[in-house]
Amino acid sequence: MTLATNERTLVLAKPDAMQRGLGSEVLRRMEQRGLKLAGLKLMRMSEELARTHYAEHEGKPFYAGLVEYITSAPVVAAVFEGPRAISIVRATIGSTDPAEASPGSLRADYGLDKGRNLVHASDSPESAAREIDLFFRPDELVDWKRDTDGWIIE
Ligand code: RTP
Ligand code: MG
Repeated sequence: MTLATNERTLVLAKPDAMQRGLGSEVLRRMEQRGLKLAGLKLMRMSEELARTHYAEHEGKPFYAGLVEYITSAPVVAAVFEGPRAISIVRATIGSTDPAEASPGSLRADYGLDKGRNLVHASDSPESAAREIDLFFRPDELVDWKRDTDGWIIE
């Protein structure tokens, strides 16, 4: 019996979540699911950071609007850690289009519009490593033991 490998993933409460007072709700869902908070900051994304963060979408029709929207107000940026954290967080936020998001997910519970879907989460180990590095310096991430660590075994 071995412990599942921990992953870290980046979560952003996007400007529409902040405008609606849902920044703390985004954090709460992840924390109460059992994921461990490893980094946290409130920040206004620069246009440069927004363009880099969403570089995979450059050239798509929604790219300019996406950069404008993500820089329109502060975001809460968080790193969460836990076994299979990347896929678990993606499931907790739901599909990109709230109309297709699973009931009980953040985007289903609070969203209507694909372009205002409240939250970002890394979609792969490669994205998670790249995005955490974009938003946090190594010394801003905290290693700590949460009492529930190791509850999930494989
Ligand atoms: P995110 O990167 O923000 O976590 O969202 P995601 O993986 O679920 O979706 P992705 O395909 O990466 O798209 C990034 C964000 O771009 C906006 N979008 N608008 N109008 C459109 O067709 C469209 N498609 C994507 C959304 O805000 C989406 O979250
Ligand atoms: Mg994405």
